Amino acid sequence: KKYVGMHRGGSTPCYFDITDYLEHQNRIIIQVDSTRRNEQVPPSNTDWFNYGGVYRDIDLIRVPKVHIKDFKIALEPESNFSKIRTSVVISEAINDTAVLVIEELGIKQEITIKDGKGELVFDASPELWAPENPKLYNVKLNCAGDEISDRVGFREIRVKGMDIVLNGKPLFLKGISCHEDSVPNGKALTDEERIENIMNAKELGCNFMRVAHYPHSERMAQLADEMGILLWEEIPVYWEVHFWSEDTYKDAENQLKELITRDYNRASVIIWSVGNENEDKDDRLKFMSSLAECAHNMDPTRMVSAACLVNYSKNAIEDRLEKYLDIIGLNEYCGWYTAEWKMLPELFENSNPKKPVIITEFGADAYAGLRGTITDKGTEDCQAYVYERQTQTIRNISYIKGMTPWILHDFRCPRRTSVNQRYYNTKGLLSADKKYRKMAFDVLKEFYHSLP
Ligand code: GCU
Repeated sequence: KKYVGMHRGGSTPCYFDITDYLEHQNRIIIQVDSTRRNEQVPPSNTDWFNYGGVYRDIDLIRVPKVHIKDFKIALEPESNFSKIRTSVVISEAINDTAVLVIEELGIKQEITIKDGKGELVFDASPELWAPENPKLYNVKLNCAGDEISDRVGFREIRVKGMDIVLNGKPLFLKGISCHEDSVPNGKALTDEERIENIMNAKELGCNFMRVAHYPHSERMAQLADEMGILLWEEIPVYWEVHFWSEDTYKDAENQLKELITRDYNRASVIIWSVGNENEDKDDRLKFMSSLAECAHNMDPTRMVSAACLVNYSKNAIEDRLEKYLDIIGLNEYCGWYTAEWKMLPELFENSNPKKPVIITEFGADAYAGLRGTITDKGTEDCQAYVYERQTQTIRNISYIKGMTPWILHDFRCPRRTSVNQRYYNTKGLLSADKKYRKMAFDVLKEFYHSLP
């Protein structure tokens, strides 16, 4: 047996060159260590079932010795939608010329490759990608006898003052959060299941989804590009991470870099999130501001955010990490974990954020089919009332520019052991098998359809 290599992290792609190991007959053995450890990202304590094993495709691919290793392409921000930037990395440090073709735009551009790398900004006026018009172009790149193609949408996402701006127009991100979990297939969703999730989000009136708390399959962003829905993608820097550990930071940063490299060409992805619900402490600030800086350096075309906690001592939106983010994500559970409803308007009155805010979580458990009064926790009536109160309050706060309530459908969760939860987190608007629609689904749907 010959040891080829090791990859840390189960959600983003990794590649191993096995050329030098090949014999006449070969057997590839993959060993997975699914042990959960507190020094890892995510740590062992998560409010979802952190599946082990292999739940991503495994491909054996043959490439020429000299091949295209990386290809990034995007509309150049602040170019008045009239320039495209592309960058190419070749597997060997060759000097050559790559040819980029976007037939539908009549584009054929030569990119000078020096020491295996090349970059080019050129004029183009593509039809802009947007949820209501998910226009994709077939893009081809040739170099040294290798050819790759991709289907790419061109759009610009910016923050301008207190607005989130897509293609020059301010928008409200009508979203919903979603885990990668299905009753029959666990984390290895089929395309049909991903399409079903996107269709359910669109039925709600969504233009946006928060795919939490880890990188979902790359199929999700590819389908979101095709079907027209914006995405918030996230690495699982979740709750109590070992923020003091250099190794833990390297694990988190590697997942972020792999996620950005994987989905750079996906128009639907507009926000990289560096984590979820971490207390505002010094070591956490250094850890997560470094991740935010890494994302900004790797990808100037997207926004960086995180799902932050309420500053409970002040009942305000106040987290030192905000300085390093373009958009402030906030998880608040007024009406569920926080009992008094008056805390919600007070929270927003106490706050004076300098950047747009997305309410990245609010919600309530509801056991599908269980009815009662609006104060009977666990009933559909209570969940629907929470959605009523939350949406009616949020709609009047001018600095809130989006929301992704928790969560589209119930999901597996070993921590949820009560008689009604039976190892599922039941904050879904749909049952785990997505066959049952709870009352709150229509409350959110009516709210989104009532917005301009
Ligand atoms: C937290 C956390 C979620 C969790 C949710 C809940 O905010 O971000 O992962 O599932 O609350 O308590 O249901």
